[in-house]
Amino acid sequence: MSAVKFIKENKEIIVAQGANLREKAVQNQIDIYTFKGKLMNCGGYGQCGMCVVEIAEGMENLSPRTDFENRKLAKKPANYRLACQTLVNGIACVNTKP
Ligand code: FES
Repeated sequence: MSAVKFIKENKEIIVAQGANLREKAVQNQIDIYTFKGKLMNCGGYGQCGMCVVEIAEGMENLSPRTDFENRKLAKKPANYRLACQTLVNGIACVNTKP
């Protein structure tokens, strides 16, 4: 079993190994998008770059950054991820809307 703690929301969810971070956030009513992101996000296809989150702990428990993330997040800190591109394989602590 894996788990994600959303720090700002003070909510911890248990997820299956390899769960998609964006899907689990949406299913659990965690708001990962800013106002603009709500209107314009790509629905999780790795196209818009609006589902960005900061990983406070547990980077090592996530799938590696995809090529799209490497391009989109090139100027962001190494612990920023696109939720729709991130699979959870352990315990991670996440800050939404960094
Ligand atoms: S939802 Fe568009 S890149 Fe993640």
